[in-house]
Amino acid sequence: MSFGTGKIWMNGSLVDWADARIHIASHVVHYGTGVFEGARCYQTKRGSACFRLDDHVLRLINSGRIYRMESPLDRQGWARVIEETIRANDLKACYIRPIMYRGYSALGVNPLPCPVEAAVLVWEWAGYLGPDAENGVDVRVSSWNRMAPNTLPAMAKSSANYANAGLIKMEAVLDGYAEGIALDVNGFVSEGSGQNIFIVRNGIVYTTPAAASILPGITRDSVITMARSLGYEVREEVMPRELLYLADEAFFVGTAVEITPIRSIDKIVVGAGKRGPVTAAIHRTFFDVINGDAPDTHGWLTWVYPDEEPLRTRAAAAGAASR
Ligand SMILES: Cc1ncc(COP(=O)(O)O)c(C=O)c1O
Repeated sequence: MSFGTGKIWMNGSLVDWADARIHIASHVVHYGTGVFEGARCYQTKRGSACFRLDDHVLRLINSGRIYRMESPLDRQGWARVIEETIRANDLKACYIRPIMYRGYSALGVNPLPCPVEAAVLVWEWAGYLGPDAENGVDVRVSSWNRMAPNTLPAMAKSSANYANAGLIKMEAVLDGYAEGIALDVNGFVSEGSGQNIFIVRNGIVYTTPAAASILPGITRDSVITMARSLGYEVREEVMPRELLYLADEAFFVGTAVEITPIRSIDKIVVGAGKRGPVTAAIHRTFFDVINGDAPDTHGWLTWVYPDEEPLRTRAAAAGAASR
């Protein structure tokens, strides 16, 4: 199912893509009062599975909590309608976009009188940063900062934050770069317009901390876990801009970009200008999980099609027999 076709789950029912409409006077259209998620379902060798679905759902509910939006669904309810929407579209692998937003009632700034509505969109979405991204992308440091603390909450994945992300992205693309890296209000590295950043220097893996106005990414958390299990030291540390230019390796992580090496920053080549060994090891570990080549030791996969259960059982039995 490509973007623009199939079914969308909206406020309790599945509707055709073309019919999933909201009123122009909806609060979200004027004031950006929406919170959303971006997750992925992968076609593993053992069937279709969503990656860390419950963590995405929890972040969605928590984003709503920050904005005083009571979620119309609980964690199990969101998981159920997401799986139902994937099945209704007969998708084996897809990007998943659940969203909660303030609907139509009144158009003052105060969101509270407006109902909280909900939808789930799914579509096939491969290479976010282009087909060649796995060989590394060229990026710039943005002239736009991430939001200052106590302005727009960075920990909420809110529609409003993506006005800032859009400025970072447009500037980068119009200047011929794949992405922009934003600094925080203190001039320290924050994150890309829609992804977290890691660098490697002298064998140590660094990523920027929650206090640097980042969205605490679920892929970031997975990468920290995987890197530590591979034996690397990982530090969540304030990162001065110039460290980007001195990195041996740098890579973006996020649901859309997965693990994407950074080839150059502000036209300064990162390390050897190609995917480095640490990036490669983490990339391999991540793809082994989402392809179903490695056991799901962290319980990160949620299976979507019940009729694939025998497949998994067989795979587990084969694994047990070979041990
Ligand atoms: C601003 C921003 N930072 C980081 C991320 C990465 O988060 P995750 O790994 O949960 O997709 C995203 C993607 O949602 C994002 O939009």
